[in-house]
Amino acid sequence: MDSAKQAKGPQSETVVVPIDLGERSYDIHIGRNLLSHIQDYVPMDLKGRTLFVLTDENVSNPHGGQVYEALKSVRPESVQLLALPAGEQTKSFANLERVVAWLLDHGVERDSVLFAVGGGVIGDLGGFAAATIMRGIAFVQVPTTLLAQVDSSVGGKTAINVPQGKNLVGAFYQPVSVVCDIETLKTLPRREVLAGYAETVKYGLINDPEFFIWLEKEGQKVCDLDPEPVSKAVEISCRKKAEIVKEDEKESGVRALLNLGHTFGHALEIAAGYDGRLLHGEAVAIGMVLAFHLSHRLGLCAEEEGSRVESHLTEIGLPTRINMIFPPLETDAKELMSYMKHDKKVSLGVLSYIVVNSIGKAHVMQGVSDEDVIEILQHSIDGT
Ligand SMILES: NC(=O)c1ccc[n+]([C@@H]2O[C@H](COP(=O)([O-])OP(=O)(O)OC[C@H]3O[C@@H](n4cnc5c(N)ncnc54)[C@H](O)[C@@H]3O)[C@@H](O)[C@H]2O)c1
Repeated sequence: MDSAKQAKGPQSETVVVPIDLGERSYDIHIGRNLLSHIQDYVPMDLKGRTLFVLTDENVSNPHGGQVYEALKSVRPESVQLLALPAGEQTKSFANLERVVAWLLDHGVERDSVLFAVGGGVIGDLGGFAAATIMRGIAFVQVPTTLLAQVDSSVGGKTAINVPQGKNLVGAFYQPVSVVCDIETLKTLPRREVLAGYAETVKYGLINDPEFFIWLEKEGQKVCDLDPEPVSKAVEISCRKKAEIVKEDEKESGVRALLNLGHTFGHALEIAAGYDGRLLHGEAVAIGMVLAFHLSHRLGLCAEEEGSRVESHLTEIGLPTRINMIFPPLETDAKELMSYMKHDKKVSLGVLSYIVVNSIGKAHVMQGVSDEDVIEILQHSIDGT
């Protein structure tokens, strides 16, 4: 609890994790039943401002609506709500245009506040819209998926997808507050909970072996949404992310470690065509196992480390090999490799990999041969 402090909201006890970024600092509030008085978790007086609630059609009722009602109690005349279709396809230029038009048509001003209520899709799209409209208005992240609570809502990465790739157009833009209400997870489909859990495991694998040991013991309870373990998992994940983001806000160094499993994962998502057969977190789970296999092949890490990660993810119910994706991907190792080369992690023509020496010891590596990567991809495709 070193960097976290306890705060009392009107209805429940809330844990506050500060994100220390100088004048862009903000707090993450983690608790239960926070949405009905969300105004208490915003660091500015909302009176006089035009307020916008962006959400998606799955989240609008009840969570988006709850935020809307709470804000109406502060600004009865000046709250707007827009619910976009749910899904990764929503993170598009077309929807950015739609959000921008909605903001402008309803009188957005420099001091307006946008509340992004939803998963990573709404957070990324809403954050990018907030970053660009009027050259930047305040926005509040209200993550309602486990993935968004432990990862995407924290750290200020915002983006949309373009036909050439995922998250290729975006901005670093920090929210003014993050409000994680773990009660919202109760309506989340279990498959989505598990996908978010993969990003939680990532923090243990990067630099916190103790956290991984805790997850091996308590992970099932986290996935069953037992409030205490969920709060703890969200809090530790946010603290881990806060430490990394503080050190390297714009990903010129250590922040790259947060991409463990993601270069592989993004290639799998492209191959799956974002058609719903592979969730982002599921792709990351397979990608993290591939990162351990690659590390073993390169002589960096014992085989047992990867086996331990794989058995934990399997026990939880996450896929760990490419041949577990259903319907099967119509792709091969070489094609996946070519997708990886279009990833944002390519710099000056060189693709970096996040590799591991053991659980909790990840680092960036360049100069990995395509043959080694293709070989481990092939094993994963064959399920061997
Ligand atoms: N910005 C970052 O740092 C960062 C980090 C990781 C991932 N991401 C991005 O996040 C996105 C994935 O996020 P996600 O997994 O949250 O996806 P998502 O936003 O698509 O949400 C997943 C599904 O759950 C539904 N949903 C959300 N909350 C719900 C709730 N409480 N009850 C019922 N249904 C609910 C959504 O409508 C959607 O169908 C990807 O686009 C990824 O690129 C961003």
